[in-house]
Amino acid sequence: MNPLLEVRDLVKRYHNRKTGDVSILRGIDVQLRKGETLCVVGESGCGKTTLGKILAGLIPYSGGTYQYHGREVSNLRGADWKKFRTSVQLIHQNPYESLNPSRMIFDILSAPIKRHRPTLDFDALFRETTDLLTMVGLTPVEDFIDKYPVNLSGGQRQRVSIARVLSLRPELIVVDEATSMIDTSLKISLLDTLKRIQDEFGVAYLYITHDLALGRYFAQEQRLAVMYLGQIIETGPTEAVISAPKHPYTRALISAGDMEERVEYDLIGVEIPSFHEIPRGCPLSPRCPEAMKGICYSVEPELLPTSPDRAVACHLYSGPREKNGVR
Ligand SMILES: Nc1ncnc2c1ncn2[C@@H]1O[C@H](COP(=O)(O)OP(=O)(O)OP(=O)(O)O)[C@@H](O)[C@H]1O
Ligand SMILES: [Mg+2]
Repeated sequence: MNPLLEVRDLVKRYHNRKTGDVSILRGIDVQLRKGETLCVVGESGCGKTTLGKILAGLIPYSGGTYQYHGREVSNLRGADWKKFRTSVQLIHQNPYESLNPSRMIFDILSAPIKRHRPTLDFDALFRETTDLLTMVGLTPVEDFIDKYPVNLSGGQRQRVSIARVLSLRPELIVVDEATSMIDTSLKISLLDTLKRIQDEFGVAYLYITHDLALGRYFAQEQRLAVMYLGQIIETGPTEAVISAPKHPYTRALISAGDMEERVEYDLIGVEIPSFHEIPRGCPLSPRCPEAMKGICYSVEPELLPTSPDRAVACHLYSGPREKNGVR
């Protein structure tokens, strides 16, 4: 089956007159098939939101290729661009999602449907709107359809936001989990809803989080990519990566997380380097307890496969491996 999206060597550069150019994404490879989930996990500031925004077409990329259904996104124009922008939607997982306070839930959900399918009659529109509410678990629908956002809890408003996104029938949803006060049980129940929607409609997810435990939950039996300083440094099936991490950075993330597999593993107490001063060689080398003299400080490791479904960018695993990109 052809991939839904394929990103190769993606780069995002920002120009700053004072400090010079800075590259936030530095050669990202991602492939996603219809109905799949990829969780991207990494510390604050590593470039997760930047990647999500590029994949959703909200900001342009500066280098590399991004193919969606086999077509280069930066070349899409007119109706093709609109179709792409509808097909990929971004959800911010935050409780302060803005919904127009002066409009009823019915209007909030039916407006985008009407815009995309103006010939739909009222009965069909009503049915679709109630179906959306059911899908996101806002039932009985009569309790919600004529309410205003102010009448709903934070969690219910987020469900309306998800329903609004679903009304556009996207094939890919980028879920950007904000570092927020929203409590874990509420997050889990929203993630369950998203998973159920995937089972029913085959939508693909790029799930962005700094919380490995949540990422593991959402990307169960799917794939995980670990990001550090604008690069993917390890990728593979979620459980395989968490139960047997390879990259020292992944091991440190697991050690810092709230997980059974937790094995004490600390990085050297150096701050995360700035994007303006990426260390030479392996970007983790100044913080890595296993950095090897010479190579780790001079040669940047490539993300290379260690088995058919796993890859790691670390000299500890160098050997006779062949680069063939990342799944
Ligand atoms: N418009 C911009 N110009 C210059 N630098 C930017 C711009 N937008 C983001 N950055 C920088 O890019 C880096 C990555 O930001 P990004 O928001 O993608 O990180 P993140 O992984 O989503 O972090 P968090 O987990 O805190 O949400 C940060 O250092 C940020 O300061
Ligand atoms: Mg972010």
